[in-house]
Amino acid sequence: MLVTKMNDLYGRDLITTQDWSVEEIEKALDLAFEMKANRYDHPMNSSLDRRTFFMFFYNPSVRTRQSFEAAATELGGHAQFLEPKSMRLKTSKSAGETIEDAAQVMSRYAVGVGIRILETALEYYGQGDEILRQYAANSSVPILSMAHDKFHPFQGLADVMGYRQHAGKNLKGKKIVQVWGKGALVRSWCSIQESIMINSRLGMDVTLAYPPGYDLDPEVIKSCEANAEASDSTFEIVHDLEEGYKDADIVYSRNWMTSNFYDDMGKHGVDAAKKMEIEKAAKHDDWIANSEWMSKTNDAFFTHCGPVDRNAEVTDEVCDGPKSIVYDVAEARLHVQKAVMALTMGKK
Ligand code: CP
Repeated sequence: MLVTKMNDLYGRDLITTQDWSVEEIEKALDLAFEMKANRYDHPMNSSLDRRTFFMFFYNPSVRTRQSFEAAATELGGHAQFLEPKSMRLKTSKSAGETIEDAAQVMSRYAVGVGIRILETALEYYGQGDEILRQYAANSSVPILSMAHDKFHPFQGLADVMGYRQHAGKNLKGKKIVQVWGKGALVRSWCSIQESIMINSRLGMDVTLAYPPGYDLDPEVIKSCEANAEASDSTFEIVHDLEEGYKDADIVYSRNWMTSNFYDDMGKHGVDAAKKMEIEKAAKHDDWIANSEWMSKTNDAFFTHCGPVDRNAEVTDEVCDGPKSIVYDVAEARLHVQKAVMALTMGKK
């Protein structure tokens, strides 16, 4: 068993994988595979011995909270759950403690802080990323994104771990179609944006497929184009399902919101803005990963970051079929988080 010895990631934040070098990403993934293979007996399993990791959730979660809490336990430490309502923080609407002060105080208690902050807790796109970077600038311990408005680094890492588990370590030249799916959950951009960035960075041929009106952050698209050029792979955007699914090795379906969501939320409130998104999404009836679309692929694996909106983003038949890797990807969240926590905040 290879035990990763260098620890040059110690003290590093992880707000998006794009902030880490490819070598650093590979190091975390290699360790995640080692930790999966030797789950309860890995030499780095006491990395958080008697140490606390804060998990600060502005928004709900199944996978992220449970997998981070389990990861801290398996590393010998403790994950403490925090919510903004328990912390009297200053906001644009209320007096309270500044992020600068809270970050410095939290650094005195814990060895790392994870933060989840999504659209409905924010006033504009990009504010979540600004808040995480403000915590990072004022904290002396690593700040980890547990999903924010722009990025979801641990989901991106877990996605890659899942592909490698099934398609092999070398993903170069594999076509992944990351395809918008209809649905009623009005999803953030964070998972899809993180995923297209890390996939293009690691040399996969990425096809992003969506109906007109669902453009993502242009800065993220520029990064994907640059990543593809640097890794000698391809990145393309299509609005046609046939073209998207054709010859794909991996299909990743996912709903995401239009860029009007923030404006609508400001003007009409969260519930009305969600209703407007659901009405728009319902017009794109064909945008579901079903067996007919999967038959156009190169016998592709099917993946989804979860939670799955069944029979909207994907049919039960595909999601539960022999090529589905959705639960392996969900499990991979635990292993990549253990690896990153051990490397960034574990005892040396
Ligand atoms: N994929 C993901 O982050 O799931 P949760 O929202 O359940 O944490």
